[in-house]
Amino acid sequence: VQSEKESLLIVLNYAKDFFKHNLSEEEEGQSIGLSYFRERGFTQEVIQKFDLGYSLNQWDALLKAGVAKGYQKDLLEKAGLIICKENKEYDRFRGRVTFPIHNISGRVIAFGARTLKKDDKPKYLNSPETEVYHKSDILYGIFQAKQSIRNEDNSYLVEGYTDVLSLYQAGIENVVASSGTSLTSNQIGLIKRYSQNVTILYDGDTAGINASLRGVDLILERGMNVRVVIFPEGEDPDSYCQKLGGAAFKDYLQEHSQDFILFKTQLHLKEAGNDPIKRAGIIRSIVESIAKIPDPIRQSVFYKECSNLLNIEENILIEEGKKIALSEQ
Ligand code: GTP
Ligand code: MN
Ligand code: MN
Ligand code: MN
Ligand code: MN
Repeated sequence: VQSEKESLLIVLNYAKDFFKHNLSEEEEGQSIGLSYFRERGFTQEVIQKFDLGYSLNQWDALLKAGVAKGYQKDLLEKAGLIICKENKEYDRFRGRVTFPIHNISGRVIAFGARTLKKDDKPKYLNSPETEVYHKSDILYGIFQAKQSIRNEDNSYLVEGYTDVLSLYQAGIENVVASSGTSLTSNQIGLIKRYSQNVTILYDGDTAGINASLRGVDLILERGMNVRVVIFPEGEDPDSYCQKLGGAAFKDYLQEHSQDFILFKTQLHLKEAGNDPIKRAGIIRSIVESIAKIPDPIRQSVFYKECSNLLNIEENILIEEGKKIALSEQ
C-alpha cells in the first residue's frame, strides 16, 4: 500500500502535467499563458526544463479532471490543489501561469502561480504547507541547478522564480531562488552540499539590498564564502539579464561581484559618513559578521581588511569580536 506522501507526489505530478497540457494544447493557455512567457522572453526550452504551465480561468477545471482521473477530493485538498470550505470546493490556482517547485530529486511538491493581471493581489500565489512541502526547507530551482553548482563550485542566490529562469536560459544554470523570504538554515544546507561558495543576487532596490544583508550571518556561520552583486535601482536579475543579454550580463556579474563583508563595510561606511558616533556604531555590526566565520585564518584576513577600510586598529576589532563570541556562547 502506498504511503500518503507518495499519493500526494503522484497527484501533484498529475496537476503539473495538467497545467503543462493547458499551456501547450488549450486555446486559453496558449493565447494567455504561453504568450505571457514569450513576451517575457522565455524560450520553449526553459519552459520545458522547468515544467511551466497554466491554470485555466475556471472554478473547477483541475478538480473535475482530477476526480474523473480517480483522485479523491480529499487528496487534492491535502496536496493544496483545491480549497474546500463551506460546502464549496474549487481550484486554488485559476487563470495563472504555474511554476512547479521540485524537490531535490525532481519530484513536484508545490506550485507558485503568477497572476497575469496588473495589480491583482497576490502577485504570486503559493501552495500552502503540506505533508510534502515545507517552504523553509526548499529552494526553487535546486533540482535543475545542483549539478552545475557542483561543477562551477558556486551558487547564485536570487529572489524570484523568473530570476532563476532568465539566468538559466542565459547559461547560468547554478541558480536558485529563496522565493522572497529570508534564508533559513535548512536552505543553506541544501546549497552547501554542492559548494561552499554562494553569490547573492538580490533586487536592486532598498528591500533587495536589506534582504541581502539579513540572513547572511547565517551563511557565514556555516563557513561558506559569500559574495554579492548589486544591480541598478529598479532592476532585478531577470530584468537586467533580459535587458543586457546573456553575455553582457555574465560580464556584469564578473565585474561587480564583491566579497560580502567588504561590501557591508563599505555600505555602512558610506551611510555613516564622517560622523564618529555613527562610525563607532557600524563597527559592531561588521565585527558581528566577521565573528561568525568559523575558520580563524579567514577571520584574521577580514579583520585586517576591515581595519584598513574603517581606519581602525586591527586589535580593537579583534577584541570586540572576542567579546561578541563570548556573549553568544
Ligand atoms: P515578476 O514580477 O514576475 O518579475 O516577479 P519577481 O520575482 O521579480 O517578484 P518580486 O521581486 O516582487 O518578488 C520576489 C519573489 O517573492 C517572487 O518570485 C515570489 O517568489 C515572491 N513573491 C512576490 N510576490 C509575492 C506574493 O504576493 N505572495 C507570495 N507568497 N510570494 C510573493
Ligand atoms: Mn485538453
Ligand atoms: Mn523585490
Ligand atoms: Mn521581476
Ligand atoms: Mn524581482
